Amino acid sequence: MPVYNLKINGTSHKVEAEQDTPLLWVLRDHLDMVGTKFGCGIGQCGACTIHVDGSAVRSCLLQVSGVEDMEITTIEGLSKDTLHPVQEAWKEIDVPQCGYCQAGQIMSAAAFLNQNKNPDKKEIRDAMSGNICRCASYNRIEKAVELAAGKLS
Ligand code: FES
Ligand code: FES
Repeated sequence: MPVYNLKINGTSHKVEAEQDTPLLWVLRDHLDMVGTKFGCGIGQCGACTIHVDGSAVRSCLLQVSGVEDMEITTIEGLSKDTLHPVQEAWKEIDVPQCGYCQAGQIMSAAAFLNQNKNPDKKEIRDAMSGNICRCASYNRIEKAVELAAGKLS
């Protein structure tokens, strides 16, 4: 089986896997980074969102062979001690209900705010619309993204 060199949260990992193994599987099952969640497995829910070279992507759709030597960031590496402004805002607004979708929501929000530091409500809604929350925490998510934008600007 081939071995891939992955750079995740600033650390190199050698992973032996079939070339078409989804990155989400590698994170969770090979490396025990279970903060990134499996939802649909087909790119529809956003639960598995991570950053690759700074952009929010769905790790269930990426093959491990396609991300060698790219900068991969998961929720575990977004900040030290959960002090990223998005995470701070999430805590202040008390966003999560069951919590299952929230790592993906936070990773999407963080990547979005890197691109747009002063978004309006519609831009926030559009940017977050691909992340599904079965507990319908959408209002709190929007408020938290607004709060995080204020912290970042
Ligand atoms: Fe990847 Fe749903 S698990 S988008
Ligand atoms: Fe339960 Fe989003 S908080 S799925």
